[in-house]
Amino acid sequence: MSLSDRIIVPLDVPDLKAAFDLLDQLPEVGFWKVGLELFIAAGPEILAELKRRGKRIFLDLKLHDIPNTMAGGVRSAQAYDVDFLTIHAPAGQAALKAAVDAVADAPLKLLAVTLLTSLSARDLAFDLHVSLELPDYVLKMALLAQASGVPGIVCSPHEAAQLRQICGPDFLLVCPGVRPPWATAGDQQRVMTPAQAFQAGASYLVIGRPITQAPDPQAAWQRLGAKL
Ligand code: C5P
Repeated sequence: MSLSDRIIVPLDVPDLKAAFDLLDQLPEVGFWKVGLELFIAAGPEILAELKRRGKRIFLDLKLHDIPNTMAGGVRSAQAYDVDFLTIHAPAGQAALKAAVDAVADAPLKLLAVTLLTSLSARDLAFDLHVSLELPDYVLKMALLAQASGVPGIVCSPHEAAQLRQICGPDFLLVCPGVRPPWATAGDQQRVMTPAQAFQAGASYLVIGRPITQAPDPQAAWQRLGAKL
């Protein structure tokens, strides 16, 4: 697999028409992420279209529920033949294990979200009343996911080197918060370049606006690939 096969582009658009336009503009992208906005608006039709075009799919629904409901949710996602699906690690070990068991024989890989990166250390301490320091909490959630049989997590590239070392070579680390040297960071707070992120141990990168909002998305994609 080449490094550009390990770049996932988010379809962060509000409807099917905008999604099809983006797919048409970026025919070389092989792995797309579908999140809540598009999935709630367009439903499974977007997944069927991606399969028709031969694409891999990261379904980013961040499931967080009781074990029985988690298991049902991941089974339903599996029916769409998606490659990655996100679940929240703080749903707890029973829910994580139920989700893992529900797709035990399927190619679908579950990815755990440890802590939303929009939450600060202050939010964690004062709003969620978690007494651990934020990096410790992220690590504990990653280890909980791994011990429950979840094959990977979504994490910042800044956490990738430590997590790679602790969780081993086969654990999937999927990293947003990546910016090519020529792109602006936008609202991402702590970014790394694609080359740095892969070097730190990332398995896959999620890179959106530097490609999708570029004046020429196809040229941006090629420029990115040339620098890996
Ligand atoms: O445009 P950009 O490259 O910032 O897009 C990153 C994608 O990854 C978006 O779909 C965003 O929702 C998602 N994401 C993130 N940070 C996380 C988890 C997901 O940026 N911690």
